[in-house]
Amino acid sequence: MMKTLFFETIDSTNTFLKEHYSEYEDMTFVSAGVQTAGRGRNGREWKASEGKDLTFSLLIKDEEVMEQYKILSVLSAYSVLKVLESCGVKDLSIKWPNDVYAGGRKICGILLEGISGEKMECLIIGIGINVNEDSFEGEYLHTPTSMKLQLDRQIDLDGFRDRIYRELIDRIDGLKKGTDLYPLIRDYDYLRGKTVFAEVRGIRKEVSVLGIDENGSLEVECEGEILHLTSSEVTFHL
Ligand code: BTN
Repeated sequence: MMKTLFFETIDSTNTFLKEHYSEYEDMTFVSAGVQTAGRGRNGREWKASEGKDLTFSLLIKDEEVMEQYKILSVLSAYSVLKVLESCGVKDLSIKWPNDVYAGGRKICGILLEGISGEKMECLIIGIGINVNEDSFEGEYLHTPTSMKLQLDRQIDLDGFRDRIYRELIDRIDGLKKGTDLYPLIRDYDYLRGKTVFAEVRGIRKEVSVLGIDENGSLEVECEGEILHLTSSEVTFHL
């Protein structure tokens, strides 16, 4: 039995699960009509309009899945990408570690948070997808786009929400069964082959990206050395 919760208004679906994870079972899906304090990565805010966008969090408590947390953000991005692709969105890619891009613009962001004491208690996968947004005002670090802007039509948000949840369930089941994600994501790797500036161990360097590796880290070449970077070790300047 999977549990889904919907709030018309909430501060943040990630914050809700952080505070209430002990009351809910593995794979609980919490979505919101609007978030009043939506959070993005690196302390940024996540903006979304009431009734237009999809904002939700998925609670992971299965130990086998939590152990694979490194690949989980890429798997989540890939799951979103596949549903967007089936809706007809073109030119899709995963921008490591976990954004989904359409036409070179950000259409989805993912915030993965873990709660641990002596052991890992749970993981919370928070996902924001720009669905029926007509325009974006204000400052954005990465130029955004929406499904509506890409497809030139209105999307049925309820149907889309169900498809995303179903896809995540199937992909996480696949992960448990040992499905290798690596060959699947190669073709959608936005940074692969690009030269970017990365702060590697605190020093800003130019690196050539070889691509997302089997563990969900980013394989780069830097001054003749092959490095496997995790998202906390590197910030990008494209
Ligand atoms: C990013 O790209 O910075 C990550 C954005 C993650 C946004 C989602 S929306 C649902 C969930 N609740 C939050 O407060 N944040 C995540």
